[in-house]
Amino acid sequence: MVEGWLFLCISGNMLQGKKIVLGITGSIAAYKSCLIIRQLIKKGAEVQVVITPAGKEFITPITLSALTSKPVISDFFSQRDGTWHSHVDLGLWADAMLIAPATASTIGKMAHGVADNMLITTYLSMKAPVFIAPAMDLDMYAHPSTQQNLQTLQGYGNHIIEPGTGFLASKLEGKGRMEEPENIVACLENFFSQQKSMQGKKVLITAGPTYEKIDPVRFIGNYSSGKMGFALANECANRGAEVELVCGPVSAAMQVTHPHILRIDVESAKEMYDACMSLYPSMDSAILCAAVADYAPETVAEQKMKRTGEDLVIRLKPNPDIAASLGAIKQDGQTLVGFALETNDEETNAQAKLKKKNFDFIVLNSLKDEGAGFRTDTNKITILTADGKKEYPLKMKAEVAKDIVDALERKGVR
Ligand code: CTP
Repeated sequence: MVEGWLFLCISGNMLQGKKIVLGITGSIAAYKSCLIIRQLIKKGAEVQVVITPAGKEFITPITLSALTSKPVISDFFSQRDGTWHSHVDLGLWADAMLIAPATASTIGKMAHGVADNMLITTYLSMKAPVFIAPAMDLDMYAHPSTQQNLQTLQGYGNHIIEPGTGFLASKLEGKGRMEEPENIVACLENFFSQQKSMQGKKVLITAGPTYEKIDPVRFIGNYSSGKMGFALANECANRGAEVELVCGPVSAAMQVTHPHILRIDVESAKEMYDACMSLYPSMDSAILCAAVADYAPETVAEQKMKRTGEDLVIRLKPNPDIAASLGAIKQDGQTLVGFALETNDEETNAQAKLKKKNFDFIVLNSLKDEGAGFRTDTNKITILTADGKKEYPLKMKAEVAKDIVDALERKGVR
């Protein structure tokens, strides 16, 4: 989540002229929204408050409209003349939406699309990046349903401004209280400063597993969830890049919402190869995160194969190596980043792949590290270049994506 870049030094005023929709929900921390508004306005932002019915129990619309110089929106219709408040227009108007404080209830409704108030409908129509600052007691925050909902929202590309300083469930002590207003505002500023860093860049990202057909109902696949690749796509898009996300068969829960991500669904390694080979020449860089099957059945049975009682041998033929093929056509100025998931001799194997596939750097995860690799929400990586190496601690995949994209922008780890 975002604490890693909270306290960076920010040059210039990134909030000048920015239009912020501030969602306020029913938490005792709602009074802190006034401080957030004051700081945003001082930095030149325009703020439109959307408040839930419960939020109004904690802070009055009069206070909020006095601070923002705008009427507060809380109902679908204006009480005076029956005018309809358009959440769609708000979604187009905003440069960012910030929900602070965000209660467990609102977080749950956002994750599941329960559009029973103006704040949730505005969220569902939002075209701009969304920041969520949870505020609740520690038990509610630590509950698996809250954590699951936050992960769902993060998977949709939303930014979670975590309370406190840790980021893993095991480090939850003292957490739950909303992050301090100045840190929340710093998150937005930092986002707007980073967002520009990849403006105009085109990035190809591969994600997920590939499926290699055996017959109409069976395939050879692997456990890749696509989470790391989706987190990378969100991170690049949030920094202003145009992303082509070539994606193997991932679960229906894996969705992209960022308008700068174009998702291309493929099934087999051959389909992924064709998509990548046609896209890469027009890209500035590629990050190859997919777990591509190295082999596919030599023939695909037309009918479902029947049990015979005998041993069954399926002959496999090698698939194209997408990474090596892109490495072979890489031009000056293009960057190519690969992954290596290893179980033994990790660094030696990764260095060999770096060279063989002509990567600029390779991201190594070891299955020996707990919390790293497939199907987890966390990852622990080491980035290797031909002459350098940097090890990172265990982090949420969205945070790991930041480290990798930082390395991409620097073309290395120094
Ligand atoms: N890769 C690829 N096409 C393939 C296989 C791998 O693009 N057919 C990419 C992966 O996306 C990853 C990198 O190459 O970025 C290394 O993948 P990995 O499976 O570790 O490498 P392999 O060359 O298949 O080596 P191994 O023998 O360890 O499977």
